[in-house]
Amino acid sequence: MRPYHLKIARDVHGSLQRTFRLGRSFDFPELQLIYETAPIGLAFLSTDCRYLLINRHLTEICGISVAEHIGRSVRETVPDIAQQVENIVQTVLRTGEPVVGIEVNGQRPDKQNAERFWTTNWHPLKSPEGTIIGISVAAEEITERKRAEAALRELNETLEQRVKEETQERIQIWNVCQDLLVITDLEGKFLKVNPAGTATLGWHESELLGNSSQWMIHPDDRKQALAETERLAAGRILHRFGVRFREKNGSYRWLSWRAVPHQGRIYATARDETEQKYAEDRLREAQQELEQVSRQTTLGAMTGSIAHEINQPLSAIIAHGNAGLRWLARKDPNLDEVQKALQHIVGDGLRAADIITSIRGMFRKDSHEKLQLSVNDLVREVLTLIHGDLDRRQIVFQSELHDALPKIRGERVPLQQVLLNLIMNAVEAMSAVTGRERQLTIRAALNERINVRVTVEDAGNGIDPAHLDHIFDPFFTTKSNGMGLGLSICRSIIEAHGGKLWALPRSPFGTTFFLTPPSAESEQ
Ligand SMILES: Nc1ncnc2c1ncn2[C@@H]1O[C@H](COP(=O)(O)OP(=O)(O)OP(=O)(O)O)[C@@H](O)[C@H]1O
Ligand SMILES: [Mg+2]
Repeated sequence: MRPYHLKIARDVHGSLQRTFRLGRSFDFPELQLIYETAPIGLAFLSTDCRYLLINRHLTEICGISVAEHIGRSVRETVPDIAQQVENIVQTVLRTGEPVVGIEVNGQRPDKQNAERFWTTNWHPLKSPEGTIIGISVAAEEITERKRAEAALRELNETLEQRVKEETQERIQIWNVCQDLLVITDLEGKFLKVNPAGTATLGWHESELLGNSSQWMIHPDDRKQALAETERLAAGRILHRFGVRFREKNGSYRWLSWRAVPHQGRIYATARDETEQKYAEDRLREAQQELEQVSRQTTLGAMTGSIAHEINQPLSAIIAHGNAGLRWLARKDPNLDEVQKALQHIVGDGLRAADIITSIRGMFRKDSHEKLQLSVNDLVREVLTLIHGDLDRRQIVFQSELHDALPKIRGERVPLQQVLLNLIMNAVEAMSAVTGRERQLTIRAALNERINVRVTVEDAGNGIDPAHLDHIFDPFFTTKSNGMGLGLSICRSIIEAHGGKLWALPRSPFGTTFFLTPPSAESEQ
């Protein structure tokens, strides 16, 4: 025991009454100073629980002054904790051992310090004979520590809860995700695979984990897959990489991968694009088939058009050839007429060549230069081609042309073909007409919108109203030797020029075909 303690023990033992009476605490002022200013609460209790000493710090627990404590019992001063204190003192007296770490909290009647806590230590002071003569109490305030501990506890609990929730969420996502989620090492060995990963490929988790993915990859894709894995291992991000993975059943699935490397791991996700790939393939095949079909259709239409359009010059060539032969076969051959016939044959042959060129251009969608043309010239050119036919079939031809008409824009040969087809139809429509004039009229005039409009009128038997909607369809014909192509060729030529072609019944007989040539606005 150090001297001060000895002295106190002696003093306390010898002069308890005096101390109590005088209200004096110490004979040593230094010790008293330490006692008064110590940052913990200190007190000395008699064995019957009366305050013999108490420093100011400790009075904060009960809010009573030092003077009011001295000589008074704990029960008088702080009745609320009296029982607890008495129990502790009894324990110390009984065992002779200190009691430490007992927590008390503010018990002031005004409850001002209800939220403050102290931890207390109780040490017995013994006389030289070993009798306990009093008990030293030290109380350290632990309010802040407790608060900090509580806050920390709460924080930990919240954190724990959050971690739990987040883990739970991630597990849910991992499990429900339809895409493959995979974690591998930097060599591509599977470390973790989500359920979608095993379900998509059919392999069991145990067949994948710890194994490299290389053996599952289609042999043709392996080299590139290896290169991508090496790039990932070197720290690059993989944005999109399509590769075929082998399913357990031996077939392959197209997986589109994205992946990031992080701390020695590769985190990868893959979408199964097999169906999409197959659909794309099927679509490509269908498109190829369609192209093939449309090439064949185009070819058919082109052949048909050529056959149709070439018919007229061919017939003319034959007619002129026969005429030439007849002039030659005479006893006295008329060479002038033979020459004329041959000139006609050359002209018709050239025309046939032009027709073929223009039809091929139409189907190749070549854009030929459109020229400024005079409608009157077009009509006249066509008439020179077929006036022989008209005469032979006893057609009375009439034309109403105006010199002041504006020019139109277009290609000469196709537009001539349009007029020719319309005239041929008109001629054919009147071939069976008897008892009235077989009249064909061609007019070119300005319509109400000041656009050029050409009409081809005949006095035939007209179009059956039920057929009106179909006459422009390809292969629609009411003629035993017809191809049903004339009008559909006419309409595609006019529409390709941006014009319009239509038909109306004419009164009292026949049909009128209306044509707004290329530069004219389409109108009804
Ligand atoms: N001026 C017309 N009068 C009455 N019917 C017509 C007239 N022009 C066309 N048609 C009807 O329209 C159908 C289709 O005409 P289109 O010129 O397309 O073919 P087509 O004359 O029958 O055969 P081709 O392909 O040899 O010309 C004709 O079969 C005919 O029934
Ligand atoms: Mg026809």
